[in-house]
Amino acid sequence: MKKVIALVGSALKKNTYNSVNKFLNMLESFGGVETEIVFLYDYHIEICRGCKLCLDRGEELCPLKDDRDKLIEKMDNSDGVIFASPNYSFQVSGKMKCFLDRLGFVFHRPRFFGKVYTNIVFQGIYGGNKIVKYLDFVGDGLGFNIVKGLCLTATEPISEYEQSKIDKAIEKKSFLFYKKLNQPAYPVPSLLKLMIFRMSRTGMKLLLNDTFRDYNYFKEKGWFESDYYYDTSLNFFKKMTGRLFDSMAAKSAKKKAPAPRLN
Ligand SMILES: Cc1cc2nc3c(=O)[nH]c(=O)nc-3n(C[C@H](O)[C@H](O)[C@H](O)COP(=O)(O)O)c2cc1C
Repeated sequence: MKKVIALVGSALKKNTYNSVNKFLNMLESFGGVETEIVFLYDYHIEICRGCKLCLDRGEELCPLKDDRDKLIEKMDNSDGVIFASPNYSFQVSGKMKCFLDRLGFVFHRPRFFGKVYTNIVFQGIYGGNKIVKYLDFVGDGLGFNIVKGLCLTATEPISEYEQSKIDKAIEKKSFLFYKKLNQPAYPVPSLLKLMIFRMSRTGMKLLLNDTFRDYNYFKEKGWFESDYYYDTSLNFFKKMTGRLFDSMAAKSAKKKAPAPRLN
């Protein structure tokens, strides 16, 4: 049985919630999937104060005491994760953004490999496609396998025509998500993903030191030497390009001063 959770960033059980609910019901109807809706508004999520302790020294030192770790644990224990938000002023809702900021350190030390992710944005009129792209990028940065997100548009009251368009889009996307849930969890990385990994790990290796959590995390995972975040079989071309990315990062690191040791 696969577990899929949806983290919903609307205070209302209306459009975003109804769409997520349909999406999850579709997944369950395909078989072998159990689902859960997690309302971010039911959780205590503080606003990040920007001290960067999580980034530099470790997330356990964060001075904020909230439900961040409960939410991360829920994602750790799932095979699939959906972020869903209404469009508020051309962005995700404030609650969703607070949550994403609380995950800031995970962009430095990605962890959700092998899990499928998508996002759903509900809006009245305009701006949601950019939010979907943003949330696609967010999911990628967290380490997930991405199914590109879905922007749903309707003004209230929702007409039958709008609703049937929405339902069709949900049906299509939920099927793609389901297919990905049942595909290899650790795919060979694209060139772009390989580049991001190789350049960031080489930069980190050369510019940081063992007083930084990022440095130690990468070292412990063996990421300073590995081909990619996880075991994968790169073809000859990608192996060579990977080395090229490492040397490009080493060249640009030479132009920067290494970070001083933290005291
Ligand atoms: C504060 C606020 C800002 C909004 N900004 C936008 C916007 O920029 N673009 C848009 O298309 N809809 C916007 N909307 C409309 C909502 O996206 C729309 O009503 C959506 O269906 C709300 O989802 P919900 O029912 O799940 O809360 C806004 C709504 C609110 C309350």
